[in-house]
Amino acid sequence: MSDRNKLCCRQPGVIWQKGKVMPRNIVVTSALPYANGPIHIGHLVEYLQTDIWVRFHKLCGNRCLYFCADDTHGTPIMITARKEGISPEGLIERVHKEHQKDFSDFFVEFDNYYSTHSPENKSFSELIFNRLNEAGAIARRNIRQPYCEGCKMSLPDRYIRGVCPRCNAEDQYGDSCEICSATYQPTDLINPYCSTCGATPVLRTSEHYFFKLADYEPQLKQLITEGYTQKSVANKLDEWFDTGLKDWDISRDGPYFGFKIPGEENKFFYVWLDAPIGYMASVKNYCDNNGLDFDEVWNGDKYELYHFIGKDIMYFHALFWPAMLIGSGFKTADKLFVHGFLTVNGQKMSKSRGTFIKASTYLKHLDPEHLRYYYASKLTAGIEDIDLSIEDFVNKINSNLVGKFANLASRSGPMLAKKLDGRLGQLDTEGKGLVAKLLNAKGRIVENFENLNYAAAVRIIASLADEANRYVEQNQPWATIKTDIEKTRTTLTAVINAVRILTVYLKPILPKYAEKVERFLNIGPLTLDDIETVLQGHRINDFQHLFERIEKEQVDAMIEESKETGGTKTMTDESVEPIKPECTVDDFAKIDLRIAKVVKAEPVEGADKLLRLQLDVGGEQKSVLAAIAQAYKLENLTDKIVIYFANLKPRTMRFGTSEGMILAAGSGGKDIFMLGADAGARPGQQVS
Ligand code: MSP
Ligand code: ZN
Repeated sequence: MSDRNKLCCRQPGVIWQKGKVMPRNIVVTSALPYANGPIHIGHLVEYLQTDIWVRFHKLCGNRCLYFCADDTHGTPIMITARKEGISPEGLIERVHKEHQKDFSDFFVEFDNYYSTHSPENKSFSELIFNRLNEAGAIARRNIRQPYCEGCKMSLPDRYIRGVCPRCNAEDQYGDSCEICSATYQPTDLINPYCSTCGATPVLRTSEHYFFKLADYEPQLKQLITEGYTQKSVANKLDEWFDTGLKDWDISRDGPYFGFKIPGEENKFFYVWLDAPIGYMASVKNYCDNNGLDFDEVWNGDKYELYHFIGKDIMYFHALFWPAMLIGSGFKTADKLFVHGFLTVNGQKMSKSRGTFIKASTYLKHLDPEHLRYYYASKLTAGIEDIDLSIEDFVNKINSNLVGKFANLASRSGPMLAKKLDGRLGQLDTEGKGLVAKLLNAKGRIVENFENLNYAAAVRIIASLADEANRYVEQNQPWATIKTDIEKTRTTLTAVINAVRILTVYLKPILPKYAEKVERFLNIGPLTLDDIETVLQGHRINDFQHLFERIEKEQVDAMIEESKETGGTKTMTDESVEPIKPECTVDDFAKIDLRIAKVVKAEPVEGADKLLRLQLDVGGEQKSVLAAIAQAYKLENLTDKIVIYFANLKPRTMRFGTSEGMILAAGSGGKDIFMLGADAGARPGQQVS
């Protein structure tokens, strides 16, 4: 553990060894995706980042094992299954197959893809819980908790909605308000209701189990000091230490889809207790099937251990998880690698904009290696968000993958095969110079891969491809082929060797491309070890086409297909709002809708989504608050004709009183559209 910070040896040309004997033994995990929804391009940031790292280590000759599993327990899985009219077991079995297909289609190659709903996971969860209990790290006490008598279950915060206690905004989640950003307890909500059935939750007292996280504060701080996480993550952790570590509720009352707590009839482990233990279960299952000793692979110092996760689940992986491992006598990971979130064209993925793109939808339109390359070209070791800009994506694929890499091969391979009998010659001085230049970059490229700076590695590799393409321009094989066959063979020998070296560098990112090149060069699987072995006097095979250009229309079609305007959706990042309790025509008739004209619009301090509108409602003026600040520019609002809910009881919010409401619809943020009326409508007129 003491050499955590020394990740690589900085000598170019030597594979960093972290003070260890080569080959290194490495266990790698990615976070376990929830089993209630499909894999989407946001998830893929993580699985591609990890897969590239694992493939890179394999390329270096290290023994690197990659583990993952489906995260199958918890309330959302139970509710999704109920809605689909199937059992949770049926749901997770189906999703397991879908996830595996998506991953394999993107060439994400796990050594084991398991499930948290497994005997190994049950037994490890009980073991760890019992050990923590024996160590005095588990407390039991009564808590009062929202319960829905309609659904006959305890309600997690996200399944309760109501009026924000701070700003009085309607329809906010049980844990936080999207309008004023307040965080609170679900019991603080005004007029709370169950988001599944609409019933008013009642409070029930029940005994819960708590993990005393604060008991492990010194060890956790020590871990962070030793470099368990990136610096930016460590800073966030410091904030959490400053706020104080609280006991963690690790039990849930039945009905709950999960593992029963030993000795209890109707209490279960909270999904986040058994989820990370799923890493161990996946390793154990693999070891048992492959004749390996679990204790050696998971818990000894023969294997290094690394977790990859997104920034939204840092608390679990940097605090709860290591504390659980320490408390139950297991080793902790050497490092936790945290990445940022995916944005598309600078905005959060959105179903209405069509940027919430499922892995399976992507694959209908585009090549998986395009996305692997694009993400690699953007990924760094930081936790900043990663933006997929559609325009940049199309440009980069066409100019780099097609224009630089595939081009180099297609300028040399077919000519060699057709006109020169497919036989390479010898390198001349200039060719040796080119090869040496490409080989020289190995140390820097290796170091960048190891340190998760894929963007830097890609930049270097692309500039080497430029170098090689310049060499082709200067030597003009298409011209010399008519005058000097052997000179042309010498030129193409250098180009083919450049293709070979670049392919080794790209192999972690583009495994299929590498396979095609290996086939066409008529060589065995390329490794970093044999990169220096120059191909001379060797016969190559017929050229295979490597990459297609992409057209903007293909991307547009993918986005169009991803647009959801209604219908059934699964609970993923953006959940569907349930239907509220029934109302009658009489209820509806109470609503008096009038035409109003915006007289003035102004921002509301402290609430960046709200605007205050002064409305002319026919002779008199009213002031309303509207959450449309991100959708409309202030200057475009004056004189706009809107529809106004005239007899809504005035409501006093934190930001002032709102006398009524204007009508608007949309998915939120920039996508909110006010309902208008024809230009002849006059303020005060009733809307029918
Ligand atoms: N089930 C938990 C993890 C349990 S690990 C013991 C979970 N699942 S998830 O399906 O929501 O996310 C899986 C991983 O994908 C997480 O690391 C998460 O951060 C990552 N991502 C999910 N959406 C993402 C983006 N939009 N962008 C980047 N990564 C994203 O959390
Ligand atoms: Zn309910």
